[in-house]
Amino acid sequence: MSRILIKGGTVVTATETMRADVLIDGEKVAALLGDGAPIPDAVEVIDAAGRFVFPGSVDAHTHMEIPFGAATSKDTFETGTQAAAWGGTTTIIDFPIQMKGDSLMGSFEETMDKAAGSSAIDFGFHQIVGDVNDQSLAELDRVFDEGVTSYKLFTAYPGVYYSTDAELMRVMQWASGNGSTILMHAENGSAIDLLREQAIARGDTGPLAHALTRPAELEGEAAHRTILLAELAGAPLYIVHISAKQVVEEIAAARGRGSHVFGETCPQYLFLELSMLDQGFEGAKFVCSPPLRDPADGHQDALWRALANNDLQVVATDHCPFDFEGQKTLGRDDFTKIPNGLPIVEHRFQLMLHAALADHRFSLNRMVDISSTTPAKLFGIYPQKGTIAVGSDADIAIVDPEASHTLSAATHHMNVDYSCFEGKELTGKVETVLSRGRVIVSNAQFLGSRTHGRYLKRGLNQLI
Ligand code: URP
Ligand code: ZN
Ligand code: ZN
Repeated sequence: MSRILIKGGTVVTATETMRADVLIDGEKVAALLGDGAPIPDAVEVIDAAGRFVFPGSVDAHTHMEIPFGAATSKDTFETGTQAAAWGGTTTIIDFPIQMKGDSLMGSFEETMDKAAGSSAIDFGFHQIVGDVNDQSLAELDRVFDEGVTSYKLFTAYPGVYYSTDAELMRVMQWASGNGSTILMHAENGSAIDLLREQAIARGDTGPLAHALTRPAELEGEAAHRTILLAELAGAPLYIVHISAKQVVEEIAAARGRGSHVFGETCPQYLFLELSMLDQGFEGAKFVCSPPLRDPADGHQDALWRALANNDLQVVATDHCPFDFEGQKTLGRDDFTKIPNGLPIVEHRFQLMLHAALADHRFSLNRMVDISSTTPAKLFGIYPQKGTIAVGSDADIAIVDPEASHTLSAATHHMNVDYSCFEGKELTGKVETVLSRGRVIVSNAQFLGSRTHGRYLKRGLNQLI
């Protein structure tokens, strides 16, 4: 077992900023040594002078190799977890998908087969329940026993993942019995489908119509409804990929009345905007659901504010990358055929670092909280993940706060042919990454392996 000393850096967790040397023994953090402490015997020293030493980050929402319409998201567990590592993310939580007619347990096993032995970093699963029926309800307990303590339901995508209110309630009632958290894709899918049909019928076939047919009000409506259903059922609720100020208001109100309701937004809703869809078919590069919003309507401001004041608790990616050529182009004549999703997994932690260091949106501690510590607590893997403490997994990202770099498809490591952040300059650069005590990124080289990442059997929500 190797021993490593990360020496001379400033350790930043969700609650503390301290000069300390981090002693790693095997896969775990063994000690935090005071500044100037003697170097223990038999250690490899990583010089972190002038650097920040962060917990490896936790991306609570990714989609590696999932089908969407006629396309499959481009990153496999192998390419996507390597890209995540380059950006300082050392844990992902991805999704087995139960499609209509599928067995729930079968989808779990299939996704496990894809991820195990192919992941550079540790991974867990949320289960998508796409077909609520007696058989899948019976299978929920088996998936739960495998360490899946969160279940995603949809009020969007009728005919695919969509659940009726009664179906949502059935799964929520089951979750309330064992403390599982319900993840909700909150958009009113049937009203959206009508708007989409009407847009196509009048010849509005381009990418901008994707966003205009998914108005913020229909995200707010679905959030309102599903929060009430979860409250009635007594299930904890986590609303994913929030883009709209209406949802922030609904979550703040629910939390104000003491409900266990949590909210996640993503870098795309913070840094990108509606006008990016309005550039002919190039706009397809920015098609995701919910869609990007107009900053003039106050959505981005509301999201940033909510992250700072804890009305929202998590920044994850919803990473779901499709090539522009050959995949997004499936919808060249009809926006409803553009696969939904964006490539983000590599950039989330760096973008949030930039938000703290350069844009002063919040403190570095708050940045660690929303991007690493709170997701680890919400999804039952803290303090193994999401912090630097004695006994935690030695998952660490060492950052040079003085370095800057420019995002580009030419240099990123995601397996996709464009970047939605092309040319964006970021302050602060991830230099060295460790996963369970092994250096996996250093000196601009990937040193990890596809067999290093392990499945995380998760516990219950630790914020309840
Ligand atoms: O556009 C998106 N969000 N694609 C991924 C699937 C989902 O709904 O999370
Ligand atoms: Zn979703
Ligand atoms: Zn998603």
